[in-house]
Amino acid sequence: MANRVMISDRVDYVGSQDWDRTIFDSLIPLPDGTSYNSYIVKGSSKTALIDTVDPKFLQELEGKLEEAGNVDYVVVNHVEQDHSGCLNMVLDRYPKATALCSEKAKDLIITHLHTAPERIITVKDGEELSLGDRTLRFVYAPFVHWPETMLTYLVEDRILFSCDMFGSHLASSDVFTVKPPHEYVESCKRYYAEIMMPFAIPIKKNLEKVEALSPAMICPSHGPCWTEPAFVMDLYRRWSQGAPENKALLLYVSMHGSVSAMVERITDRLSAAGVSVARVDLTEPDLGKIAINLVDSHTILIGTPTVLGGPHPKVASAVVLANALRPKAKLIGIVGSFGWAGKAPEVLASLVPNLSGAELLQPLMLKGLPDEDGIRKLDEFADTLIDRHSKAFPKEDGCC
Ligand code: FEO
Repeated sequence: MANRVMISDRVDYVGSQDWDRTIFDSLIPLPDGTSYNSYIVKGSSKTALIDTVDPKFLQELEGKLEEAGNVDYVVVNHVEQDHSGCLNMVLDRYPKATALCSEKAKDLIITHLHTAPERIITVKDGEELSLGDRTLRFVYAPFVHWPETMLTYLVEDRILFSCDMFGSHLASSDVFTVKPPHEYVESCKRYYAEIMMPFAIPIKKNLEKVEALSPAMICPSHGPCWTEPAFVMDLYRRWSQGAPENKALLLYVSMHGSVSAMVERITDRLSAAGVSVARVDLTEPDLGKIAINLVDSHTILIGTPTVLGGPHPKVASAVVLANALRPKAKLIGIVGSFGWAGKAPEVLASLVPNLSGAELLQPLMLKGLPDEDGIRKLDEFADTLIDRHSKAFPKEDGCC
Protein backbone atom coordinates (compact mmCIF):
# COMPACT_ATOMS: atom_id res chain seq x y z
CA MET A 1 0.00 0.00 0.00
CA ALA A 2 2.23 2.80 -1.28
CA ASN A 3 -0.17 5.70 -1.27
CA ARG A 4 -2.41 7.42 1.16
CA VAL A 5 -5.90 5.97 1.42
CA MET A 6 -9.01 7.96 2.15
CA ILE A 7 -10.89 7.04 5.34
CA SER A 8 -13.39 9.87 4.91
CA ASP A 9 -13.35 13.17 3.06
CA ARG A 10 -11.33 14.67 5.96
CA VAL A 11 -9.31 11.64 7.07
CA ASP A 12 -6.48 9.94 5.20
CA TYR A 13 -4.67 6.76 6.14
CA VAL A 14 -0.89 7.28 6.16
CA GLY A 15 0.13 4.11 8.01
CA SER A 16 2.29 1.19 6.96
CA GLN A 17 1.80 -2.52 6.49
CA ASP A 18 4.56 -4.68 7.97
CA TRP A 19 3.96 -7.84 5.96
CA ASP A 20 7.19 -9.54 6.95
CA ARG A 21 7.32 -8.96 10.69
CA THR A 22 7.23 -12.33 12.40
CA ILE A 23 7.58 -11.46 16.07
CA PHE A 24 6.43 -8.66 18.38
CA ASP A 25 8.05 -7.58 21.64
CA SER A 26 10.71 -10.22 20.80
CA LEU A 27 8.15 -12.69 22.11
CA ILE A 28 4.83 -12.95 20.31
CA PRO A 29 4.69 -14.64 16.89
CA LEU A 30 2.93 -12.68 14.16
CA PRO A 31 1.56 -15.21 11.66
CA ASP A 32 -0.03 -12.46 9.57
CA GLY A 33 2.40 -9.56 10.03
CA THR A 34 1.01 -6.34 11.46
CA SER A 35 0.36 -2.73 10.57
CA TYR A 36 1.10 0.62 12.19
CA ASN A 37 -1.82 2.87 11.43
CA SER A 38 -1.44 6.60 11.26
CA TYR A 39 -4.07 9.07 10.15
CA ILE A 40 -4.18 12.63 8.87
CA VAL A 41 -7.23 14.66 9.95
CA LYS A 42 -7.85 17.89 8.06
CA GLY A 43 -10.01 20.66 9.47
CA SER A 44 -10.74 23.91 7.66
CA SER A 45 -7.89 25.68 9.50
CA LYS A 46 -5.62 23.06 11.11
CA THR A 47 -4.32 19.58 10.37
CA ALA A 48 -3.50 16.85 12.86
CA LEU A 49 -1.55 13.63 12.49
CA ILE A 50 -2.94 10.88 14.72
CA ASP A 51 -0.01 8.72 15.90
CA THR A 52 3.01 7.92 13.76
CA VAL A 53 4.42 4.53 12.74
CA ASP A 54 7.18 2.16 13.73
CA PRO A 55 10.61 3.72 13.03
CA LYS A 56 11.24 1.01 10.44
CA PHE A 57 8.73 2.85 8.22
CA LEU A 58 10.00 6.37 8.80
CA GLN A 59 10.82 6.98 5.14
CA GLU A 60 7.44 5.69 4.02
CA LEU A 61 5.69 8.07 6.41
CA GLU A 62 7.84 10.95 5.19
CA GLY A 63 6.76 10.18 1.63
CA LYS A 64 3.10 10.17 2.58
CA LEU A 65 3.45 13.41 4.53
CA GLU A 66 4.85 15.06 1.36
CA GLU A 67 1.33 14.88 0.02
CA ALA A 68 -0.35 15.98 3.22
CA GLY A 69 0.83 19.58 3.32
CA ASN A 70 1.33 21.21 6.70
CA VAL A 71 0.83 19.39 10.01
CA ASP A 72 -0.05 21.51 13.03
CA TYR A 73 -0.49 18.82 15.67
CA VAL A 74 0.78 15.32 16.25
CA VAL A 75 -1.53 13.42 18.58
CA VAL A 76 0.36 10.82 20.60
CA ASN A 77 -2.38 8.49 21.79
CA HIS A 78 0.18 6.04 23.17
CA VAL A 79 3.94 6.31 23.68
CA GLU A 80 4.94 2.75 22.76
CA GLN A 81 7.45 3.15 19.97
CA ASP A 82 5.50 1.29 17.31
CA HIS A 83 3.27 4.39 17.29
CA SER A 84 5.44 7.20 18.59
CA GLY A 85 8.74 6.12 17.04
CA CYS A 86 8.64 8.70 14.23
CA LEU A 87 7.45 11.60 16.41
CA ASN A 88 10.78 13.43 16.40
CA MET A 89 11.05 13.17 12.62
CA VAL A 90 7.59 14.71 12.22
CA LEU A 91 8.35 17.50 14.68
CA ASP A 92 11.63 18.21 12.86
CA ARG A 93 9.80 18.33 9.57
CA TYR A 94 7.16 20.74 10.88
CA PRO A 95 8.99 23.14 13.25
CA LYS A 96 5.76 24.83 14.34
CA ALA A 97 3.90 21.60 15.05
CA THR A 98 3.05 20.54 18.60
CA ALA A 99 2.78 17.06 20.07
CA LEU A 100 -0.43 16.52 22.07
CA CYS A 101 -0.65 13.81 24.68
CA SER A 102 -2.13 12.85 28.03
CA GLU A 103 -0.64 14.13 31.26
CA LYS A 104 1.07 10.81 31.99
CA ALA A 105 2.45 10.54 28.47
CA LYS A 106 4.67 13.64 28.51
CA ASP A 107 7.30 12.19 30.82
CA LEU A 108 7.25 8.91 28.88
CA ILE A 109 7.77 10.75 25.58
CA ILE A 110 10.73 12.65 27.01
CA THR A 111 12.35 9.58 28.57
CA HIS A 112 11.66 7.16 25.71
CA LEU A 113 12.16 9.45 22.70
CA HIS A 114 14.16 12.39 24.10
CA THR A 115 11.69 14.79 22.52
CA ALA A 116 12.18 18.45 23.46
CA PRO A 117 9.70 19.18 26.30
CA GLU A 118 8.72 22.54 24.80
CA ARG A 119 7.29 20.74 21.78
CA ILE A 120 4.80 18.81 23.92
CA ILE A 121 1.45 20.03 25.24
CA THR A 122 -0.70 17.88 27.49
CA VAL A 123 -4.46 17.64 27.09
CA LYS A 124 -7.02 16.73 29.74
CA ASP A 125 -9.54 13.92 29.66
CA GLY A 126 -12.51 15.11 27.61
CA GLU A 127 -10.71 18.20 26.29
CA GLU A 128 -11.54 19.26 22.75
CA LEU A 129 -9.35 20.82 20.08
CA SER A 130 -10.77 22.75 17.14
CA LEU A 131 -9.26 22.19 13.71
CA GLY A 132 -11.71 24.73 12.26
CA ASP A 133 -14.76 22.87 11.07
CA ARG A 134 -13.62 19.64 12.70
CA THR A 135 -13.12 18.85 16.40
CA LEU A 136 -10.88 16.35 18.13
CA ARG A 137 -11.92 15.13 21.58
CA PHE A 138 -9.33 13.37 23.74
CA VAL A 139 -10.55 10.53 25.92
CA TYR A 140 -8.23 9.08 28.53
CA ALA A 141 -8.15 5.28 28.37
CA PRO A 142 -5.57 4.15 30.92
CA PHE A 143 -4.14 0.65 30.49
CA VAL A 144 -5.30 -0.02 26.98
CA HIS A 145 -2.34 -0.46 26.66
CA TRP A 146 -0.13 1.66 28.98
CA PRO A 147 -1.24 3.96 31.80
CA GLU A 148 -0.82 7.04 29.59
CA THR A 149 -2.98 5.79 26.72
CA MET A 150 -5.79 7.93 25.35
CA LEU A 151 -8.23 7.70 22.47
CA THR A 152 -9.01 10.50 20.03
CA TYR A 153 -12.51 11.07 18.71
CA LEU A 154 -13.32 13.05 15.59
CA VAL A 155 -16.61 14.48 16.76
CA GLU A 156 -18.31 15.56 13.53
CA ASP A 157 -17.45 12.35 11.64
CA ARG A 158 -17.90 10.05 14.67
CA ILE A 159 -14.58 8.34 13.98
CA LEU A 160 -12.71 6.94 16.97
CA PHE A 161 -8.94 6.59 16.75
CA SER A 162 -8.51 3.91 19.38
CA CYS A 163 -4.79 3.15 19.19
CA ASP A 164 -4.11 -0.38 20.55
CA MET A 165 -7.69 -0.97 21.69
CA PHE A 166 -9.63 -2.99 19.09
CA GLY A 167 -6.41 -3.67 17.16
CA SER A 168 -5.32 -6.75 15.23
CA HIS A 169 -1.88 -7.89 14.20
CA LEU A 170 -2.81 -8.18 10.55
CA ALA A 171 -1.05 -6.77 7.50
CA SER A 172 -3.53 -6.28 4.69
CA SER A 173 -4.04 -4.45 1.43
CA ASP A 174 -7.41 -3.41 2.82
CA VAL A 175 -7.55 -0.58 5.34
CA PHE A 176 -11.15 -1.43 6.26
CA THR A 177 -12.92 -4.61 7.30
CA VAL A 178 -14.08 -5.48 3.78
CA LYS A 179 -14.93 -9.09 4.57
CA PRO A 180 -17.72 -10.23 6.92
CA PRO A 181 -16.62 -9.17 10.42
CA HIS A 182 -16.42 -12.72 11.76
CA GLU A 183 -13.50 -13.34 9.41
CA TYR A 184 -11.45 -10.90 11.48
CA VAL A 185 -12.20 -12.51 14.85
CA GLU A 186 -9.16 -14.81 14.92
CA SER A 187 -6.57 -12.06 14.44
CA CYS A 188 -8.45 -9.68 16.72
CA LYS A 189 -8.71 -12.34 19.43
CA ARG A 190 -5.03 -13.22 19.14
CA TYR A 191 -4.22 -9.53 19.59
CA TYR A 192 -6.65 -9.16 22.49
CA ALA A 193 -5.16 -12.23 24.19
CA GLU A 194 -1.58 -11.06 23.92
CA ILE A 195 -1.99 -7.34 24.54
CA MET A 196 -5.32 -6.60 26.20
CA MET A 197 -6.27 -9.60 28.34
CA PRO A 198 -4.17 -8.51 31.36
CA PHE A 199 -6.24 -5.31 31.41
CA ALA A 200 -9.72 -6.82 31.36
CA ILE A 201 -10.82 -4.70 34.34
CA PRO A 202 -9.76 -1.33 32.85
CA ILE A 203 -11.22 -2.43 29.53
CA LYS A 204 -14.69 -2.56 31.10
CA LYS A 205 -14.56 1.11 32.10
CA ASN A 206 -12.97 2.17 28.83
CA LEU A 207 -15.57 0.24 26.84
CA GLU A 208 -18.25 2.23 28.60
CA LYS A 209 -16.53 5.43 27.45
CA VAL A 210 -16.45 4.14 23.88
CA GLU A 211 -20.10 3.09 24.02
CA ALA A 212 -21.04 6.60 25.18
CA LEU A 213 -19.32 8.04 22.10
CA SER A 214 -21.28 5.72 19.78
CA PRO A 215 -18.64 5.84 17.02
CA ALA A 216 -19.63 5.19 13.41
CA MET A 217 -16.15 3.83 12.70
CA ILE A 218 -13.25 2.65 14.85
CA CYS A 219 -9.77 3.19 13.45
CA PRO A 220 -7.19 1.38 15.61
CA SER A 221 -3.43 1.59 15.28
CA HIS A 222 -3.00 -2.03 14.23
CA GLY A 223 -5.09 -3.94 11.72
CA PRO A 224 -8.22 -2.96 9.85
CA CYS A 225 -10.60 -0.10 10.60
CA TRP A 226 -13.90 -1.44 11.89
CA THR A 227 -16.80 -0.24 9.79
CA GLU A 228 -19.18 -2.08 12.13
CA PRO A 229 -17.89 -0.93 15.54
CA ALA A 230 -20.64 -2.71 17.47
CA PHE A 231 -19.19 -6.04 16.38
CA VAL A 232 -15.74 -5.51 17.86
CA MET A 233 -17.17 -3.80 20.94
CA ASP A 234 -19.29 -6.92 21.55
CA LEU A 235 -16.19 -9.09 21.20
CA TYR A 236 -14.33 -7.01 23.76
CA ARG A 237 -17.30 -7.13 26.12
CA ARG A 238 -17.47 -10.92 25.85
CA TRP A 239 -13.75 -11.53 26.13
CA SER A 240 -13.19 -9.15 29.04
CA GLN A 241 -16.39 -9.67 31.03
CA GLY A 242 -17.99 -12.94 29.91
CA ALA A 243 -17.70 -16.15 31.92
CA PRO A 244 -15.13 -18.73 30.80
CA GLU A 245 -16.36 -21.40 28.43
CA ASN A 246 -16.75 -25.15 28.84
CA LYS A 247 -13.16 -25.63 27.80
CA ALA A 248 -9.89 -26.94 29.20
CA LEU A 249 -6.45 -25.87 28.01
CA LEU A 250 -3.72 -28.50 28.38
CA LEU A 251 -0.16 -27.15 28.42
CA TYR A 252 2.53 -29.80 28.58
CA VAL A 253 5.96 -31.11 27.73
CA SER A 254 6.85 -34.78 27.61
CA MET A 255 10.48 -35.92 27.45
CA HIS A 256 10.18 -39.73 27.44
CA GLY A 257 6.46 -40.39 27.03
CA SER A 258 5.24 -40.47 30.65
CA VAL A 259 3.61 -37.04 30.62
CA SER A 260 2.16 -37.51 27.15
CA ALA A 261 0.55 -40.76 28.31
CA MET A 262 -1.03 -38.86 31.21
CA VAL A 263 -2.17 -36.02 28.96
CA GLU A 264 -3.69 -38.46 26.47
CA ARG A 265 -5.68 -40.20 29.18
CA ILE A 266 -6.99 -36.94 30.65
CA THR A 267 -7.81 -35.62 27.17
CA ASP A 268 -9.93 -38.71 26.48
CA ARG A 269 -11.82 -38.39 29.74
CA LEU A 270 -12.42 -34.64 29.35
CA SER A 271 -13.66 -35.16 25.79
CA ALA A 272 -15.95 -38.00 26.87
CA ALA A 273 -17.38 -35.67 29.50
CA GLY A 274 -18.24 -33.07 26.86
CA VAL A 275 -15.45 -30.64 27.72
CA SER A 276 -13.83 -28.87 24.78
CA VAL A 277 -10.08 -29.51 24.91
CA ALA A 278 -7.30 -27.31 23.52
CA ARG A 279 -3.77 -28.71 23.74
CA VAL A 280 -0.41 -27.04 23.32
CA ASP A 281 2.78 -29.09 23.29
CA LEU A 282 5.23 -26.60 24.75
CA THR A 283 8.26 -28.13 23.07
CA GLU A 284 7.80 -25.70 20.16
CA PRO A 285 4.96 -23.52 21.42
CA ASP A 286 3.07 -20.85 19.55
CA LEU A 287 2.63 -18.37 22.39
CA GLY A 288 -0.27 -16.83 20.48
CA LYS A 289 -2.09 -20.17 20.56
CA ILE A 290 -1.59 -20.36 24.32
CA ALA A 291 -2.85 -16.80 24.75
CA ILE A 292 -5.91 -17.24 22.52
CA ASN A 293 -7.02 -20.32 24.40
CA LEU A 294 -6.50 -18.61 27.74
CA VAL A 295 -9.14 -16.01 26.82
CA ASP A 296 -12.04 -18.38 27.38
CA SER A 297 -10.79 -21.59 29.03
CA HIS A 298 -12.40 -22.42 32.36
CA THR A 299 -9.69 -24.95 33.25
CA ILE A 300 -5.93 -25.05 32.75
CA LEU A 301 -4.09 -28.36 33.09
CA ILE A 302 -0.30 -28.27 33.25
CA GLY A 303 1.73 -31.37 32.49
CA THR A 304 5.44 -31.49 33.25
CA PRO A 305 8.29 -33.91 33.62
CA THR A 306 10.74 -33.27 36.44
CA VAL A 307 13.99 -31.65 35.30
CA LEU A 308 16.79 -31.02 37.82
CA GLY A 309 14.28 -31.20 40.63
CA GLY A 310 11.75 -28.73 39.16
CA PRO A 311 9.33 -28.34 36.25
CA HIS A 312 10.59 -28.50 32.69
CA PRO A 313 11.85 -24.95 31.90
CA LYS A 314 9.54 -24.66 28.89
CA VAL A 315 6.58 -25.45 31.11
CA ALA A 316 7.74 -22.90 33.69
CA SER A 317 8.10 -20.28 30.94
CA ALA A 318 4.57 -20.91 29.63
CA VAL A 319 3.16 -20.76 33.15
CA VAL A 320 4.89 -17.42 33.78
CA LEU A 321 3.32 -16.10 30.57
CA ALA A 322 -0.13 -17.45 31.49
CA ASN A 323 0.11 -15.81 34.90
CA ALA A 324 1.14 -12.47 33.35
CA LEU A 325 -1.81 -12.54 30.94
CA ARG A 326 -4.25 -12.83 33.90
CA PRO A 327 -6.75 -15.20 32.29
CA LYS A 328 -10.13 -15.77 33.92
CA ALA A 329 -9.63 -19.53 34.40
CA LYS A 330 -11.30 -20.92 37.51
CA LEU A 331 -9.56 -24.27 37.89
CA ILE A 332 -5.93 -25.36 37.62
CA GLY A 333 -4.56 -28.89 37.60
CA ILE A 334 -0.93 -30.04 37.62
CA VAL A 335 0.18 -33.51 36.62
CA GLY A 336 3.62 -34.85 35.88
CA SER A 337 6.26 -37.47 36.27
CA PHE A 338 9.46 -37.80 38.26
CA GLY A 339 12.35 -40.25 38.44
CA TRP A 340 13.44 -40.15 42.07
CA ALA A 341 12.44 -36.80 43.63
CA GLY A 342 11.43 -33.24 42.82
CA LYS A 343 9.29 -30.21 43.61
CA ALA A 344 7.79 -29.37 40.22
CA PRO A 345 4.22 -28.79 41.51
CA GLU A 346 5.38 -26.49 44.30
CA VAL A 347 7.46 -24.43 41.87
CA LEU A 348 4.59 -24.20 39.34
CA ALA A 349 2.06 -23.24 42.02
CA SER A 350 4.35 -20.40 43.11
CA LEU A 351 4.38 -19.03 39.55
CA VAL A 352 0.65 -18.28 39.33
CA PRO A 353 -0.07 -15.60 41.96
CA ASN A 354 -2.34 -13.74 39.54
CA LEU A 355 -4.56 -16.82 39.37
CA SER A 356 -5.31 -16.82 43.08
CA GLY A 357 -9.03 -16.74 42.26
CA ALA A 358 -8.74 -20.15 40.61
CA GLU A 359 -8.99 -23.42 42.51
CA LEU A 360 -5.73 -25.39 42.42
CA LEU A 361 -6.35 -29.14 42.58
CA GLN A 362 -4.07 -31.42 44.55
CA PRO A 363 -1.31 -32.13 41.97
CA LEU A 364 -0.62 -35.66 40.80
CA MET A 365 2.99 -36.66 40.21
CA LEU A 366 3.69 -40.24 39.12
CA LYS A 367 7.00 -42.05 39.34
CA GLY A 368 8.07 -43.01 35.83
CA LEU A 369 5.66 -44.31 33.20
CA PRO A 370 2.10 -44.72 34.56
CA ASP A 371 1.52 -48.33 35.67
CA GLU A 372 -1.79 -49.88 36.65
CA ASP A 373 -1.84 -48.07 39.99
CA GLY A 374 -0.73 -44.84 38.28
CA ILE A 375 -3.56 -45.09 35.76
CA ARG A 376 -6.04 -45.60 38.58
CA LYS A 377 -4.72 -42.45 40.30
CA LEU A 378 -4.79 -40.60 37.00
CA ASP A 379 -8.44 -41.53 36.44
CA GLU A 380 -9.29 -40.38 39.97
CA PHE A 381 -7.52 -37.10 39.25
CA ALA A 382 -9.39 -36.71 35.95
CA ASP A 383 -12.71 -37.47 37.67
CA THR A 384 -12.03 -34.81 40.29
CA LEU A 385 -11.00 -32.32 37.61
CA ILE A 386 -14.15 -33.00 35.59
CA ASP A 387 -16.33 -32.86 38.68
CA ARG A 388 -14.98 -29.44 39.69
CA HIS A 389 -15.07 -28.17 36.11
CA SER A 390 -18.62 -29.38 35.52
CA LYS A 391 -20.01 -27.45 38.47
CA ALA A 392 -19.70 -24.31 36.31
CA PHE A 393 -21.57 -25.99 33.45
CA PRO A 394 -24.77 -27.66 34.58
CA LYS A 395 -26.09 -30.52 32.45
CA GLU A 396 -28.69 -28.36 30.72
CA ASP A 397 -25.71 -26.46 29.21
CA GLY A 398 -24.56 -29.68 27.60
CA CYS A 399 -21.72 -30.52 29.90
CA CYS A 400 -20.69 -33.54 31.89
FE1 FEO B 1 0.90 -1.03 19.50
FE2 FEO B 1 1.13 -0.75 22.91
O1 FEO B 1 1.62 -0.48 21.13
